[in-house]
Amino acid sequence: MKETASQTPGSALYETSGLVSQYLGFHYGPPVLGIQNFPAACIDFLMASVKLQHRNRCLDIGCAVGRSSFELAKHFQHVDALDYSSGFIEAAKRLQQSGTVQYEIPTEGRLTNDCQISLESLLDSDIANRVTFQTGDACNLADEMHNYDLVFAGNLIDRLYQPQLFLNSITQRIRVGGWLVITSPYTWLEDYTPPNYWLGGYVDSAGIPVDTFTGLSRALHPHFKLGCREDIPFVIRETGRKHQHTIAEFTAWHRAE
Ligand SMILES: C[S@@+](CC[C@H](N)C(=O)[O-])C[C@H]1O[C@@H](n2cnc3c(N)ncnc32)[C@H](O)[C@@H]1O
Repeated sequence: MKETASQTPGSALYETSGLVSQYLGFHYGPPVLGIQNFPAACIDFLMASVKLQHRNRCLDIGCAVGRSSFELAKHFQHVDALDYSSGFIEAAKRLQQSGTVQYEIPTEGRLTNDCQISLESLLDSDIANRVTFQTGDACNLADEMHNYDLVFAGNLIDRLYQPQLFLNSITQRIRVGGWLVITSPYTWLEDYTPPNYWLGGYVDSAGIPVDTFTGLSRALHPHFKLGCREDIPFVIRETGRKHQHTIAEFTAWHRAE
């Protein structure tokens, strides 16, 4: 039987309005606890460390509310930005179309603060309009999503119901000479990914521990060669005094064949 994301309870978590606000704050709010803005830091590091042959088409997959998509639009002619959550995509489109979005962040208990994002402070509208936001499933992409110079998958891989399916299908959608960039804290959870589909974080049948970097390298061989590997920290604010402080691993893979 073919699996779909709707069979995975985890993916539904991203639809709640609380999470849309949390991600709007994460992507567009001020730095928290002295840690730089994560989507912007990823794209800055990517542009500084990856030698791109072409900058025509790129795909931001699992884009959430779109900050990395807008950052990529500063460097690419066209950005396809896709997420499974319609709440996230609607918020990104609202920001693109009207230039502003209001949201509330929890401070303590039932108290909240009102916040507003202005896209104008980040980039010009003609650059923002290079992004096409749409809902979709990373494990079941439309045929026309291909011929990319870069695919950026930010903190997506350990949230997919079948990550290997995504990796198999994405290879043919990246031009030879193009790049696949994956960031992830490798927090595998059964709520999102059945354990038999985890790329790492388990002991194999021979009793050997398999970490996710090893699993990813195996899954991407022989089409991709590792270009660079780096830790990038991020902070997601939950309330005025509670935060998730996490370290993602950034890996860039060059499609060699
Ligand atoms: C941990 S968030 C990361 C979001 C963003 N890239 C970032 O780094 O802030 C994971 C994202 O993947 C999306 N997602 C989960 N499963 C997906 C699927 N099958 N297809 C597309 N997006 C998916 C979620 O809706 C969510 O936006």
